[in-house]
Amino acid sequence: MPFVHKKNIWSIKDNLITSESIFEKRREILKKIGASYLILPGSFLFPYSAQASTKSLYPPPINEFYKVNRDLTNESYATTYTNFYEFGSNKNIWRKAAKLQTKPWSLSIEGLVNNPLKIDVNDLIKKIGGIEERVYRFRCVEAWSMTVPWAGFPLSKIISLVEPKSDAKFVKFETFYDPEVAPGQKQKWYPWPYQEAITIEEAKTDLSFMATGIYGKELPNQNGAPLRLVLPWKYGFKSIKSIVKISFVNERPIGMWERIAPNEYGFWANVNPNVPHPRWSQATEQLLGLDGRIPTMIYNGYAEQVSSLYKNLESKLKEQLFK
Ligand code: MTE
Repeated sequence: MPFVHKKNIWSIKDNLITSESIFEKRREILKKIGASYLILPGSFLFPYSAQASTKSLYPPPINEFYKVNRDLTNESYATTYTNFYEFGSNKNIWRKAAKLQTKPWSLSIEGLVNNPLKIDVNDLIKKIGGIEERVYRFRCVEAWSMTVPWAGFPLSKIISLVEPKSDAKFVKFETFYDPEVAPGQKQKWYPWPYQEAITIEEAKTDLSFMATGIYGKELPNQNGAPLRLVLPWKYGFKSIKSIVKISFVNERPIGMWERIAPNEYGFWANVNPNVPHPRWSQATEQLLGLDGRIPTMIYNGYAEQVSSLYKNLESKLKEQLFK
């Protein structure tokens, strides 16, 4: 089954590790010049108009509402221990992903919306008004986890732009398809392109984030450049990378992993330590780069923000919300 990593992730060589102190220094500088704001979720975005290119948006200002009470994962782990099956299922894919051309990058936003949009990602960032940084927990279904500073904007900004019609019930995301660039896509038994979907209510939740960067820089290809979804209360496979299409639809789509193994991976995929994966426990997790395991939290620690979305849903739908 594709989700089992055979390599020992703790054996990453020291020379791959870039100092986190550099990252912290930048944060300090930003703080000194007052570019950090204590605010309500999603209320602050860096003004784009004065910027010549998206590169100059980095490092973005910090949204202090989204902090996590544990250390950041070392950047070298978060950017080399990556899952991107389009480039293969082993741990060398971070190098292979360099082949992906992400500039320009056209994104289509379509389906049941009043204002469909075909737009370059950089122009989208401009239209939306810029980016911010949020530190989120991230929990993979394989029971490893990380704590990373994402840069980007709330998905709700896209929803406001395109204005979904009243019959739009789900938001579906698709990754590019190009087997010449991404050799993993030559494996025909995967139902490419990678796709995932969430409900429109989930999409409107402020936690739902479109990431364009990580660690104060543009996203490296292997982490899903130039645009990926980040849903920190769900297992990581929902956080689809390198998105080319977002569609607003009426029928519930089937995600790639759900199609491959519906008994193991479902539509909801909310993190719950008390509901084991059919082949392993989800009670604890291995934080990348640290020894030992820590307990996993319900909704990965975001119950306050998201549990209301699922009130009474389990009995109503008669299906599992935690796989
Ligand atoms: N998106 C695409 N297009 N292809 C993938 O293989 N893997 C998913 C998710 N998004 C994946 C993807 C899985 S299983 C996880 S855990 C996360 O990406 C990993 O994100 P990271 O590599 O940035 O840590």
